[in-house]
Amino acid sequence: MRKVIIAGNWKLNKTSAEAITLVEELKREVVDVSGVDIVVCPPFTAINDVNECLIGSNIDLGAQNVFWQDSGAFTGEVSAPMLKHLGVKYVIIGHSERRQFFGETNETVSKRIRAALTHGLTPIVCVGENLAERESNKTFDVIKNHCEGSLVNLTAEEMSKIVIAYEPVWAIGTGKTATPEQAQEVHAYIRQLLARIFNTEVSQSVRIQYGGSVTPENIAILIAKPDIDGALVGGASLKAPSFAAIVKAAQK
Ligand code: 13P
Repeated sequence: MRKVIIAGNWKLNKTSAEAITLVEELKREVVDVSGVDIVVCPPFTAINDVNECLIGSNIDLGAQNVFWQDSGAFTGEVSAPMLKHLGVKYVIIGHSERRQFFGETNETVSKRIRAALTHGLTPIVCVGENLAERESNKTFDVIKNHCEGSLVNLTAEEMSKIVIAYEPVWAIGTGKTATPEQAQEVHAYIRQLLARIFNTEVSQSVRIQYGGSVTPENIAILIAKPDIDGALVGGASLKAPSFAAIVKAAQK
């Protein structure tokens, strides 16, 4: 049985002070929730303060990116040991916004995954097609390319530590959620790929989140699908009541 995982990707939002306010409220709202992994991914600048707020709570800390070298002359980068030291448990890798705006490729995703695993961080690896790719029936090709390209060189044991997030780019921040059927179809395909690249056991144990305009209103029908194990939430994670409502509705 795969444990549901709901993660909030705050993207480029919240100062430290705003982050603390949000997390204090969120802690109260989800205090009675069990059976769901709850994760918040603040910007780097708020991670330390958020970590202190989260001590003793049922919410885990994530980061939104990680560099592949541990240290050195890499101005502006943040490494896996630095994140680990701040209490970070998860790290989002290869988000479509990083592919679109910051030159992320399968190769750099793969290096970041390696660094995260080496330092005991759990990667949340994002895959997903854009609108033109969906409309030209290339969805499965893109998913295959993202999975094969970024999960290369991993052992089955390493793969079993990773979370995948299927995020159709056309559904991100648009209010246009994939239908549960569209999402389920791709999630099932990802599981098939994992079975082929690794083995059946791994494919059945890896958690696959859906991301793209997830709200308190649509989470229940998404999570009801057999291969949808959680959500990576953007906009709706920026307010405690809506994120908490998603978490509670996802309790299976
Ligand atoms: P929205 O929930 O705002 O569509 O963002 C999804 C996302 O990109 C999460 O990583």
